[in-house]
Amino acid sequence: MCESTNDVICYVIYFVIYFAVFVILYSVNIFLPQKYHRGQALELDKFIINGGKRLQGTVNISGAKNAAVAILPATIFAEGPCTLYNVPEINDVSIDLKILNEMGAEVKIINKNTIRIDTAHIRDTVVPYELARSMRASYYFLSTMLNRFGRARVSMPGGCDLGDRPIDQHLKCFKALGASYTIEHGIVDIQAEKLIGTQIYFDRVTVGATINAILAACKAEGLTILENAAKEPHIVDLANFLNSMGADIMGAGTDVIKIRGVKHLHGTEYTVIPDQIEAGTYMIAAAATRGNVIINNIIPKHLEPITSKLRKVGVVIEEHDEYLRVIGQETYEKTTVKTMPHPGFPTDMQPQLTALLTMAKGTSIVTESMFDNRFRYVDELRRMGADISVDGKVAIIEGVDHLTGAPVKASDLRAGAALIIAGLATNGTTEIEDIYHIERGYEDMEVKLRNLGADIVKRMFTDGMRKAL
Ligand code: EPU
Repeated sequence: MCESTNDVICYVIYFVIYFAVFVILYSVNIFLPQKYHRGQALELDKFIINGGKRLQGTVNISGAKNAAVAILPATIFAEGPCTLYNVPEINDVSIDLKILNEMGAEVKIINKNTIRIDTAHIRDTVVPYELARSMRASYYFLSTMLNRFGRARVSMPGGCDLGDRPIDQHLKCFKALGASYTIEHGIVDIQAEKLIGTQIYFDRVTVGATINAILAACKAEGLTILENAAKEPHIVDLANFLNSMGADIMGAGTDVIKIRGVKHLHGTEYTVIPDQIEAGTYMIAAAATRGNVIINNIIPKHLEPITSKLRKVGVVIEEHDEYLRVIGQETYEKTTVKTMPHPGFPTDMQPQLTALLTMAKGTSIVTESMFDNRFRYVDELRRMGADISVDGKVAIIEGVDHLTGAPVKASDLRAGAALIIAGLATNGTTEIEDIYHIERGYEDMEVKLRNLGADIVKRMFTDGMRKAL
């Protein structure tokens, strides 16, 4: 239909139309499924790391996971809205918010890390089973719901698989304060007409039971004294939060905590402390890549157990009021470490430290004293060339010259962090599966690492890929 004089123009127009149609079809087929999955940690998604880059720059540490997951259930006490700042955007927090929302609370996300919660309209005493089962900290709803409604029904908790994780010390506290309970079909059903203050001695130091005892006692009648209590920074943070609502809690951060029950707790505004485990993870990532990184928005005091151990292996750390500078070195020394309750070396940093020690000179010994089974990541580090043998709760690490990239799997949250550190420090490509564990507790980890110069991407499975499986 083209006249001979206009042939060239016609062909150009046809070409432009064909090209536009091709671009549209290509976008629909290839790009849309990826957009659809952005931001969701699905089971098949992976991190791909091309290691060997020195981390450089500044990383801002988010709010503490283990403080936030105690403070969120505690908003159930407030006779008025609570506004929380510096809440980390992580999956465990999302689960807590879903639980509160499904039980009738008004949850307003004001911005990425600021949340307003009004629990006035909660009426239900049953915490949604599947949500509660998917995380450890759901057991804090037992004490808060019991206190407010005289009854709570919550599934037995889930969380990282670190071996046997009994809740006998939690139940002992509830009973001592006057509650009775049954455990049937996976659900703890706890009831009390009223809770009465008492003296409780923990048979072992436990973070979770200390927090549950504080939550149960803060509106009980009279004085409760907790002995052999855990002293972690997140316990102090929870006590500060409750005191800002009108509670009367003294001694948090020591092993004796005194709680005088009050009748009413009001709404409040509160800022969650920075996450010392997230900070420690970036400190080790900086050290392992021989980088130079400012760890910003932290409380240096909370990091002392980590800082002093890293200095012992040869990492240079400059301490300032609200930040640390970590300067990595070419070689590190062997060490011996045993995980202990705060202020000892934290179990939640054990896998990350082990990853660093695989590259240190000589033989290091790491003893895990908190959990029965926290060395499941060792097999994965071995795939990368690490020389580690495990005997019960002790790992013996012979330092090697270098690791090599490999396909590996994260078996839990901190195991995943250790594999990321190992992957960043090797010269090859490391693919980490099961990254949903990592996203339970680290906010925007791959983005923060990319900002420090790491070559890490999250590969998301598209719908097409899922159907093909
Ligand atoms: N334990 C009992 N009986 C109990 C409670 C605990 O025997 O009733 C034992 C545990 O089995 C474990 C030890 O006491 O051997 C310590 O457990 P703890 O209660 O202190 O741990 P948790 O409350 O279950 C919290 C953190 C963990 C962290 C530990 C230790 C939360 C939600 N979880 O767990 O965090 O490892 O304290 O500091 O706060 C993580 O963040 O990766 C993580 C696992």
